[in-house]
Amino acid sequence: AKRIRTHTLRDFKERGEKFTMLTAYEQYAASTFDEAGIEVLLVGDSASNNVFGNETTVPVTVDMLLPLTRAVARSVRRSLVVGDLPFGSYQASPEQAYLTAARFMKEGEAHCVKLEGGADLAPQIELLSRGGIPVMAHIGFTPQSEHALGGYRVQGRGDAADQLLHDAHAVQEAGAFAVVMEMVPGDLAGQVTKELAIPTIGIGAGPDCDGQVLVWQDAFGLRTGRMARFVKQYADVHGVMLDAARAYADDVRAGTFPGPEHTF
Ligand code: KIV
Ligand code: NA
Repeated sequence: AKRIRTHTLRDFKERGEKFTMLTAYEQYAASTFDEAGIEVLLVGDSASNNVFGNETTVPVTVDMLLPLTRAVARSVRRSLVVGDLPFGSYQASPEQAYLTAARFMKEGEAHCVKLEGGADLAPQIELLSRGGIPVMAHIGFTPQSEHALGGYRVQGRGDAADQLLHDAHAVQEAGAFAVVMEMVPGDLAGQVTKELAIPTIGIGAGPDCDGQVLVWQDAFGLRTGRMARFVKQYADVHGVMLDAARAYADDVRAGTFPGPEHTF
């Protein structure tokens, strides 16, 4: 199958065809989702929560994400691999952003990077794009700013709609090839999708975005507990693993594993 490129996503939008994105932090999720035809794999800074056991995405570092990014990049044949720039690694200046993003391309072998922010981050997006690093922007609710935004809240309601529209246009003008919209009212996300030439990717942003993204550990039930309203449950991977672990333990305790067929 032909590799997905940044311009391939634009082709999807122009044909009015939806595309898909999931998180992936390691080899087997990456190769499985690639095989399933998921167009874009995001090595999200949500690895902070889902791999490293943190409460938020704030503590994860570039050095923690690079090996995960490289593992995913080496495990796909078709999917576009996005490296997610972590908190504090790009906000200070366009130069800081470029040096960080270049590490994701060189050491992480990412195909492009994602960063959180709208108009304020336009100088970063511009420098990266001009310097050969494709940028996916991320607007609406931006988890790295959870403490500044006052928790997980829908963004762009009421008067804030104008700011969201402004941010969407600003990242496109700055050269972003796509934009993630997180927790934005469906009507507003639909309007942004219509107004922009670049593809939009929604998470909690309704059905009118050009593509959708979910954290697979949430959607496929590896993580249990409270889920955001925008998550649909497609599987119970936690249940499958729990049953397997218990069956294995039962066998060992009962002396029924290993059997003669497992023994040299
Ligand atoms: O890190 C992540 O998982 C993300 C998605 C929620 C878009 O940024
Ligand atoms: Na992220």
